[in-house]
Amino acid sequence: MPRFDSAPPREGTDSHKWRKYGRGIIPAWVADTDFPAAPPILAALRQRLQHGVFGYCDITEELRETVCEYFLRRWQWSVKPESLLFLPGLGAAIHIVCRMAEGGGILTPSPIYHVFRYAPALAGARRLDAKMILDENERWQLPMRHLQKAADANGANARVLQLCNPHNPNGKIFEREELLALAEFCEKRNMFICADEVHADLILDEDRQHIPIASLDEKIAQRTITLQSPSKAFNVAGLNFAVAVVPDEKLRKKFLQAAAGKVITHLNPFGIAAAQAAWSGECDEWLKKSNAHLRKNRDKLRAAINNKKTPGITMPPLPATYLAWLNVAQLQLPDPPAHFIKHGVGMSPGADFGDPNQMRLNFGCTKTLLNKIIPRLRRAANNAKAENAKAENAKTNNATN
Ligand SMILES: Cc1ncc(COP(=O)(O)O)c(C=O)c1O
Repeated sequence: MPRFDSAPPREGTDSHKWRKYGRGIIPAWVADTDFPAAPPILAALRQRLQHGVFGYCDITEELRETVCEYFLRRWQWSVKPESLLFLPGLGAAIHIVCRMAEGGGILTPSPIYHVFRYAPALAGARRLDAKMILDENERWQLPMRHLQKAADANGANARVLQLCNPHNPNGKIFEREELLALAEFCEKRNMFICADEVHADLILDEDRQHIPIASLDEKIAQRTITLQSPSKAFNVAGLNFAVAVVPDEKLRKKFLQAAAGKVITHLNPFGIAAAQAAWSGECDEWLKKSNAHLRKNRDKLRAAINNKKTPGITMPPLPATYLAWLNVAQLQLPDPPAHFIKHGVGMSPGADFGDPNQMRLNFGCTKTLLNKIIPRLRRAANNAKAENAKAENAKTNNATN
């Protein structure tokens, strides 16, 4: 039986998420969930452990086939086994792609997962921000005019588009027409695309679906590097396994050249075993149940936030991911992360993703924990005004003393 409401406690373990804030503060930040992995994954790990030898590992033909079959079954996306490059994480791939820009411009939606924000500079490239906006129907959009403006800036020399679909942190699922427009934009400017689709299996709106940009047509696939992993949906992020799908042979070579210097290490045997099990089909039912649980959490959180009892915080629709992107601008907090920590919730600061008026809340937790988070958010919202007034008074008093 999947355990989404009686998860083993992570407090006092080696959990990155749970160690950050310590006692009394509920961690709702980094993107992993609090649930044990699916039983077939646990069985595969036990079996691998039984072997007892953990030297360097190769990726087998069987795993390549499993990956290709999974992509075809889930997203009707046909990928050749030789297009797959395996890595210990998506983060490494993002840095490698930025190196491939050879000092050119890297078109980057804003806000976005923080590694996309700092990787260009580390690779000697220039980040070109294109702002996302919430439209009148409360849907996040990446306006073409913003992309054009960023790519046409003085000396921009845009070489790569960083695409995160579904988007972290606002949960946007890009529609077919939007993806086609982005691909056309990149084709006209001879740019390649880095498509991070790690949240693809976390579509919470039942009437929506994920479309890999590289699945649209062969020409688009040839200019795309797609990043995937079972790490988020199957909660095995600590096992360090990711795959880059690079159908074009020249681009593949360039990727490997940019990774020179053993940047890509061998993968660990447990990551490989977990990926093989996660994508074998045996975990499909578990994934449905996990997403049903996340959907319930999302709906509960949204109803509680978009409510008079939580004034000054808003949560637009979130079609995908377990990461809520909360607008806290109306609270007018001088330091939003510190204010929420003071009220017992440790979220990811929006500033990390490019917007200090937002906070990102991870609701990949048990119902019990979410039931503790909600009243703390309410208290934080209701106390904001009074605390700001107190701070303002103190400032005035100090100035007059
Ligand atoms: C969009 C996105 N890309 C990459 C990563 C990091 O992946 P990895 O741990 O494999 O480097 C995350 C983790 O939250 C993510 O949300």
